[in-house]
Amino acid sequence: MLAQRLIERKRDGGRLEPGEWRALTLAYTAGHVPDYQMAAFLMACFIRGLDREETAALTEAMLGSGDRLTLADLGVPRVDKHSTGGVGDKVSLVLAPLIASLGVAVPMMSGRGLGHTGGTLDKLESIPGFRTSLTLTEAKGQLSAIGCALIGQTTEIAPADRKLYALRDATSTVESIPLIASSIMSKKLAEDLTGLVVDIKRGSGSFLPQLERDLELAESMIRLGADHGCPVVALVTAMDRPLGRACGNALEVEEAIHTLKGEGPPDLLELTYALGVEMLLIAGIVESADDARRRMEKAIGTGKAAEHFQKIIEAQGGNPGVVDDPAVLPQADECELFNAPRRGFVARVEPRTVGRGIIALGGGRMKLDDRVDPSVGFVITARPGDWVEQGEPLATIFARDRTGVETGRQALRQAVVISDEADPPLPLVSHRVSNAGVELVPGL
Ligand code: URA
Repeated sequence: MLAQRLIERKRDGGRLEPGEWRALTLAYTAGHVPDYQMAAFLMACFIRGLDREETAALTEAMLGSGDRLTLADLGVPRVDKHSTGGVGDKVSLVLAPLIASLGVAVPMMSGRGLGHTGGTLDKLESIPGFRTSLTLTEAKGQLSAIGCALIGQTTEIAPADRKLYALRDATSTVESIPLIASSIMSKKLAEDLTGLVVDIKRGSGSFLPQLERDLELAESMIRLGADHGCPVVALVTAMDRPLGRACGNALEVEEAIHTLKGEGPPDLLELTYALGVEMLLIAGIVESADDARRRMEKAIGTGKAAEHFQKIIEAQGGNPGVVDDPAVLPQADECELFNAPRRGFVARVEPRTVGRGIIALGGGRMKLDDRVDPSVGFVITARPGDWVEQGEPLATIFARDRTGVETGRQALRQAVVISDEADPPLPLVSHRVSNAGVELVPGL
């Protein structure tokens, strides 16, 4: 195989056979194809696209480049949730213990925050002692003992994707639907799942803001799952404003803990339930969506879900006391209110600007090896559509020092737009996509 011939073919609108995808992917992972050739090839893929068979072949090649969990002997359904990411999205921290407490194994593999979006691993690591770098053997042991492991992509899983994703990040070739779908599914399929639920964010703060592209991504992931006997259901959900109130790693853990006790913000709780219903239905352990919802409400109401989070934290080396006393989380030195500069409607709370504000405070990263300060961020109580009076508190800024408070204030001045009228925000959950097609979701 000559990489140059494959680059030329893709550049000219041709296609590769499955064996060629496998050979190119494995040769690149082994270091036999240089980055400059793979970068040119990825750009040709980005511009020309991949057909269904090519997307499946690339997924298979990346999946086959590493190890997989083998979980069938657990004897219970195995379901994960993946989110395309956003600002304030701490659903995984609530959903994983909640669903595991109901008898479904949740092998949740998550990522780190990059750019304006946060990442579940950074949030978890704000819990003192919490270790996300479990080996596959450790993850399996924990799944067998307590039904949940919250881990990062290990070096054993889809190494080809890890290398290709880093190159795509550096060459502006991330936002291609076949490349995204194959990248996500190569990791999810390595978890040996019996079902996957995907939260596809839409709106100005999402990775793919346009609805048509979100639906296309959902359909592509559903097809890739079906090829491997793993049913996939996607919900398209709002990211035109942050989810919940807390934005920033430790602040989000605290909010997730309140939500596990039934005291979280309504949008976070509703989205958790909507995704949880799909996870329990796909697991086949409930009779209906109503039954699923009742069981989740009970697990939260009785404290069972919060206790399960405590068990997971303890198993992964973290301080389980955080569930009873979130004050053990890292605390920012400075904390100050941000008040409304005028009266009017809150027209927008722009997630990208909030996310960039967190990076400016030191709580996010632009490069994968940047260090994050877990204590900083915002708690934004103003919601789009609210009427506010001048001087009314809209948010709290958590910063390292006075300069940070000023940086945070500048970010919020841009992010929170107050005007005489406000368009309605996007529905929290707008579409449900499954192998039966796309349905509109009423009333959320
Ligand atoms: N997340 C992934 O894991 N891969 C992509 O390509 C994009 C987002």
